[in-house]
Amino acid sequence: MTTGEMAAELVSPPLPASLRETLPGRYYTDPTIFAAEQALIFETGWSCAVLAADIPAPGDFETVQVGRESVIVARGRDGAVRAHLNVCRHRGARICTEDKGTVRRSFQCPYHAWTYGLDGSLVSAPHLREMPDVDRSAFGLHRVHSREWLGYVWLCLADEPPSFEDTVVADVAARLGSPDAIVGYQVADLALGRRISYDVKANWKQIVENFMECYHCGTIHPELTEVLPEFANGLAAQYFVGHGAAFGDEVHGFTVDGSEGLARIPGVGADQDRRYYAITVRPQVFVNLVPDHVVFHRMFPLAADRTHVVCDWLYLPEVVASGADIDRSVELFHRVNQQDFDACERCQLSMDSRSYARGGVLVPSEHHIGEFHDWVRARVG
Ligand code: FES
Ligand code: FE
Repeated sequence: MTTGEMAAELVSPPLPASLRETLPGRYYTDPTIFAAEQALIFETGWSCAVLAADIPAPGDFETVQVGRESVIVARGRDGAVRAHLNVCRHRGARICTEDKGTVRRSFQCPYHAWTYGLDGSLVSAPHLREMPDVDRSAFGLHRVHSREWLGYVWLCLADEPPSFEDTVVADVAARLGSPDAIVGYQVADLALGRRISYDVKANWKQIVENFMECYHCGTIHPELTEVLPEFANGLAAQYFVGHGAAFGDEVHGFTVDGSEGLARIPGVGADQDRRYYAITVRPQVFVNLVPDHVVFHRMFPLAADRTHVVCDWLYLPEVVASGADIDRSVELFHRVNQQDFDACERCQLSMDSRSYARGGVLVPSEHHIGEFHDWVRARVG
């Protein structure tokens, strides 16, 4: 068989108008495209970085990856959270190599001991007095825009960030059908009950696309479809915008076996009770809302084929403080996560195949994924 004949075998006929193409396979493997996404998506928009309650006291800090940058997020002595690039202004050494920690009042670069305050200012450097041309005020750490919402610290590396309200808040409102629908879940007042991190060997877009559709629910999520019977028909993703998915009649709570859940969040209205809402906040957050807890995913793309996902299960503080058994509640979405990430990794294996060089197909219940692809293409080109 000649090369030409082989190529001819892999060309598909044009799609009927009712179907849409996916992105071509190389969008999930090409380091050049990944670098463009880092630069033009993750380094220009807002990313959810840190649970504010994880850095409760002055001097507490975490380092996080935003696009290709390492960022120090620290609570100052005034109680405010600030973020700075984790790059020494002297010769560029990475200042903090720890994921998290506590400093008394400053960060000291381990190389030549330039020392920066929690507000990023350069407070001292060896022999500074003998170097009058080194203006301390000119060599503070570079500031990263930050703000808190839903109890998390969100960061933007852009010099002039896009409106947080028009992007992040609007995404949540569009998904819930109203800007106020999230309020009743009191997300910022909830406490961390459990955290599980996942090292997913798949491109970040696989994870977004998977989260956006429920065509797969009947195949890979037996526990979830038991609790949410409407999900078994695969139409959930767009059908339930604005009014959530109802729990099954025999289901008592959003748990792995449908047994009773935990204390209901008081702000959850009667119209939101016994319902499940799933929200994608582009580009790297997924939120699930149920009456007694919130499942909050943050996603950190590390390479074209590797993504770190941190999933928090948040409950009323009194539920967490009481030591109540949250295992059955956590287990449901932990299984969903494992099932989803296994599926993403299964697809990732084929992204370099000649069979997928032109991509695949979005069936009608997945058409909204095409909008996500348009969104990516509009940014990356
Ligand atoms: Fe940090 Fe020299 S590189 S003090
Ligand atoms: Fe799923």
